[in-house]
Amino acid sequence: MVEISVAHEALPEEGVVVVFAGADGSLSAAAASLDGEKVVSRALRLPGGKLRHGRIVSLALPAGLRLDRLLVAVVGKPEGTKARDLEELGAAIVKQLEAERVEEAVVASPAGLELGMAEDAAIAAMALGAEMRAYRFDKYRRPAEDGEDGPKPLARLRFLSTSAAGEALARARGLARAVAWTRDLVSEPANVLYPQSFAQICESLSEVGVEVEVLAPADLEKLGMRALLAVGQGSAHPPHVVVMRWKGAAQEAPVALVGKGVCFDSGGISLKPSAGMQDMKWDMAGAAAVVGAMRALAQRRAAADVVGIIGLAENMPSGTAQRPGDVVRAYSGKTIEVINTDAEGRLLLADVLAYVCERFRPRAVVDLATLTGAVIVALGHERAGLFANDDALAEALLRAGEDVGEPLWRLPLDEPYEKHIESDIADLKNVGRGREAGSIAGAVFLKAFVGERPWAHLDIAGVAWSSRDLALVRKGATGFGVRLLDRLVATTFEEK
Ligand code: BES
Ligand code: MN
Ligand code: ZN
Repeated sequence: MVEISVAHEALPEEGVVVVFAGADGSLSAAAASLDGEKVVSRALRLPGGKLRHGRIVSLALPAGLRLDRLLVAVVGKPEGTKARDLEELGAAIVKQLEAERVEEAVVASPAGLELGMAEDAAIAAMALGAEMRAYRFDKYRRPAEDGEDGPKPLARLRFLSTSAAGEALARARGLARAVAWTRDLVSEPANVLYPQSFAQICESLSEVGVEVEVLAPADLEKLGMRALLAVGQGSAHPPHVVVMRWKGAAQEAPVALVGKGVCFDSGGISLKPSAGMQDMKWDMAGAAAVVGAMRALAQRRAAADVVGIIGLAENMPSGTAQRPGDVVRAYSGKTIEVINTDAEGRLLLADVLAYVCERFRPRAVVDLATLTGAVIVALGHERAGLFANDDALAEALLRAGEDVGEPLWRLPLDEPYEKHIESDIADLKNVGRGREAGSIAGAVFLKAFVGERPWAHLDIAGVAWSSRDLALVRKGATGFGVRLLDRLVATTFEEK
């Protein structure tokens, strides 16, 4: 993990330094101070196309300077530079430094360029992008030894500021840490992360002031969470539920964040094909996003009352597993005909949603779940599916998603789809009409367990994991949802 710091000090004369230039060729004060021999301005005229935001020109042993390397990063968009653009630039700098196998670098202040935001905000955004891009899940890899090829992570990155910046960077780092924690949990294999071990890890949230309560299998039995228990009944690792509360303000009612935590989804008796089944270790990404968001909120002491709740189970086939055709009575009292044991996320969420609504009477509920493969058919890996019974909540989520680069697309949820999940013998069945509107069938099923409460469901099956490098995250777990929920609480549920 890269160690990021900010310092109010002079530009070093040796080592590796990154300076900034504008897209019009203008130089930051730090870049100008190194331009005595015109190395910076000449670097900007090297072939390589237009000077545009995100381009990085790298010089080894720049003439007249004692630096090992000088990187000139172009910053600023003609239509206005957003925080998101600076996050991407911070990530691009890390990518370039890693390609050059640099272990330590200093990033000069962009002061002197017109960015349309305060210097500390710009630095914080770049630091957030840098830290997210530098993340690796390498705990199970042997580190490369000296002289050996293989990944050599950037170890230290120091941002220089013309003022004594601190607050904004500390916030960015807190958020980056929360996202990294979520990514760790999502990446962890299912032999290590199972319902009980996941629940135990959540207890560490009490260190930042989150109240944590674990409901063990016996508690779930007593409560009557039969749908959730049925999902886990084929596994040697029984289900657990974790209830978390961050009370950063006294409010009339909390907002509830709910996560699907299927630690491994084999499909159960409706077994999945073996090709690609290993991906189902990350079927708990919704739950991981919720716990990451709780950490982010607590770390920045968000002035809001937030309940987080995750349902944890492992969906396995065995002699004790539930069968297709079984009918279970959910926590809410509704009966469900289990047509396909691979549609397990909605069973688990049915109980957790109904429980959180009854116990906390939240002012709004947002659930995150890797619920359907069908959402990938609809939206690919670019956006998560959004379903909501409340337009204001949907709008707030859409806006938060655009702001933090975790975009959503709203799909319908209206009455005609309710017919898709009608059962011949129970109140509902857990699948819709085959390949028709699969994600909507999942959402409309969940809707039956939240009543009239403002509620939104995010189907994150396409965005929780990436098989290719993205602007801010290397391939693997993305941490999708942590920043989105943090922003949603900030814009919509926090005391001003
Ligand atoms: N966890 C899966 C959905 C999923 C698929 C997530 C691919 C990520 C990538 C979910 O539990 C599931 O199996 N859904 C079924 C539902 C169907 C049986 C109605 C699906 O999408 O096929
Ligand atoms: Mn499944
Ligand atoms: Zn699943």
